[in-house]
Amino acid sequence: MEFKFNDFLMSISTALDFIEIDILSVETNHLKRVAYVSLKLAQYFDLTIQEQIDTVSFSILHDNGLTQTLLDNKIRSNDLKEFYLRESFKEHCIIGEKNVSLFPFLTKHKNIIKYHHETYDGKGFFKVKGNDIPLIAQFIAFADYIDFVFKYKNVDDKKKEKLISYIKEQKNKRFNVEIVDAFLEISSKDGFWEQLNDDNIEHSLKSEIPVYEQNMNIDEVLKIMSVFSKIIDSKSQFTQEHSDGLAHKIHKMCENYNYDHHEKMKLVIAGKLHDIGKLAIPIQILDKPNKLDDEEISIMKKHSYYTDRCLSNIDGFEDIARWASNHHEKLNGSGYPKGLKADELDFNSRLVACLDIYQALTEERPYKKPFSHKEAIGILETMALNNEIDSDITTDIDEVFKCV
Ligand SMILES: [Fe+2]
Ligand SMILES: [Fe+2]
Ligand SMILES: [Fe+2]
Ligand SMILES: [Fe+2]
Repeated sequence: MEFKFNDFLMSISTALDFIEIDILSVETNHLKRVAYVSLKLAQYFDLTIQEQIDTVSFSILHDNGLTQTLLDNKIRSNDLKEFYLRESFKEHCIIGEKNVSLFPFLTKHKNIIKYHHETYDGKGFFKVKGNDIPLIAQFIAFADYIDFVFKYKNVDDKKKEKLISYIKEQKNKRFNVEIVDAFLEISSKDGFWEQLNDDNIEHSLKSEIPVYEQNMNIDEVLKIMSVFSKIIDSKSQFTQEHSDGLAHKIHKMCENYNYDHHEKMKLVIAGKLHDIGKLAIPIQILDKPNKLDDEEISIMKKHSYYTDRCLSNIDGFEDIARWASNHHEKLNGSGYPKGLKADELDFNSRLVACLDIYQALTEERPYKKPFSHKEAIGILETMALNNEIDSDITTDIDEVFKCV
């Protein structure tokens, strides 16, 4: 499958940026700025093209372990109002490193995510010191910290001065002197600070990443996407297995329909990513134990629009993006985000939509026990009668899962 890795990285950074905003209350586009500054440093240090691309991937993924860590530590949406404390669990570095073990990095660098909070003088989570910290991890630690503390988008002269004097003072303390000197030179170039603005950062990053197209087979693409379904599912305490559970059911239905391997894997990926837009929904809404009010429902409904926004720019992902973002559309046009009608909804979009409902009904929620297969099918049948979902697929789901 022709797969544009760079497009994919940009789309994923948009999705993961939502988490940083929501959980750490950082500014918009934090991950892209960390990636941009780290990449500039990688270029300055003459890293290879492959290392430069990996620097971008690692930067974008540096906090991928955060949602799982907060969940494991039972940190709820209203706990830890001091947002920076949410990053104070060193497990997020360990879980993050483990999560990306299947990610197809182009080089063999290890422990980059694990050590993204280490300081040069050895005062980080793992007390690793100096150049025992991998160079790319040092770039990310530097770029992450200064963006987190100084919020260097729209930086004015006064803030710039403060930042520069801080990093100079931290030479060989928090930061490697060579990285500070490199940054001083990079940031003295015309236009450097403007590149970091919200208006420019996506373009800046895109134009700096070396072009890299990778022909991956569908199984490799699936491996990458599994990293993201874990992040999606662990954002909310109530949906920990939702995307994986749906993907599993899709797999079973595809076998029932004798789909070929490629088509089956594409649909499984759509299942894993269908709720990626939930990363953009505030955790207070996702985790609300009782029913949502009207305003909250309308915010929640935006998630399938965001799924579309995240996936539709990836070349080679056209089908996957359509099946994933149509999962709340209804045959009678009453669904969202586009209000599509029956003739605009292909069979696979309908299949994902039916199975998503079935999956959600058979899962536990704070306000309900899991429904049995029979109860869930009863609800699907009513929806089919109302011309919301496909009645033939409902019958097939009943057949396939009644004995499971
Ligand atoms: Fe972190
Ligand atoms: Fe960060
Ligand atoms: Fe959804
Ligand atoms: Fe869903």
